[in-house]
Amino acid sequence: MKQKAAASAPGKVILFGEHFVVSGRPAVVTAINLRAKVEVVLENDKTIFRSRQSWSSWSRKGEPVHPTPPKTSSFTPLYMMASKIMEDHGVSSCFRAEIYSDIPGGAGLGSSAAISTALARALSNLFGLNLSTQRLVEYAMVAEKEYHGRPSGIDPHASAYGGTLLYEGPGKFQPLQLGISPEMLVVFTGLKRKTSDMVDQVVKLASENRREFGELSSLYSEVFVRSVEALKSNNLELLGRLMTINHYLLRALGLSNEVVEKCVEDLLRTGVYGAKLTGAGGGGSVVAVGRTNQEAAVFSLLSSYPKAWVVKTSCPGVRDEN
Ligand code: MEV
Repeated sequence: MKQKAAASAPGKVILFGEHFVVSGRPAVVTAINLRAKVEVVLENDKTIFRSRQSWSSWSRKGEPVHPTPPKTSSFTPLYMMASKIMEDHGVSSCFRAEIYSDIPGGAGLGSSAAISTALARALSNLFGLNLSTQRLVEYAMVAEKEYHGRPSGIDPHASAYGGTLLYEGPGKFQPLQLGISPEMLVVFTGLKRKTSDMVDQVVKLASENRREFGELSSLYSEVFVRSVEALKSNNLELLGRLMTINHYLLRALGLSNEVVEKCVEDLLRTGVYGAKLTGAGGGGSVVAVGRTNQEAAVFSLLSSYPKAWVVKTSCPGVRDEN
């Protein structure tokens, strides 16, 4: 056992297929160069989680100390994941986890999965467990289920494996080798929302309107097939057009709103090839693809939105840090 360890994992953007993936359709996800880093250090008698915004602690016996119950902690899913890792491997230790993340929460960019995956890897190193990448995903899913209800698993797969993945379900994915990994524009609308609420909304809509949902899913499947061709041939214009079509399908599922529509419009006005909401929708972020050198467009968007980035895609997955 070491005294301390650290790891980081990337956030993600879903290029095609959010929500459709929950009902078993394939999606395309790419790891981006916004990362979460977690440092873990052995402690004597309590376990502490701390980020820039807040902190929480538990006694050695597993009783919450801060915040005092009945107040709940946003770190509880991480604590549950860590407890499961230790229980499965016969480890009983207290630790402090310091979380540093570039990825805003509730923005559709995989913040919780990046933190869970980085924490799982850091704990694996701290306790000498040598967990495989797939085991890290499985543990991250423990936290993801607590955070999001019934996640498809796409986020922790992107955080753990990195790159660009064609994803169909837990353990059912394949890496997509791209000649060039295009840069993308990502704009956070500033509107945070709960993934589980958005997923429940779509599940309800699908069960009440089976035929329409089936038709939208079939249209999506065609978009997906062409998106893989566009990515493989590095045809960014086609990729952009398909992203916009995917956005219209998500809009038809009730996942857009005035804020998201304005953001898509603002991006399209900068001359990008296409734009779509990414992640759960209802707010969150919009992703766009265009020509290179999009810094000026990002700069202009920053006057209307809290965050905007030119992100790299197909970035490395979870890794150790010093
Ligand atoms: C969340 O990043 C993407 C959703 O499809 C939910 C999921 O796949 O778990 C909305």
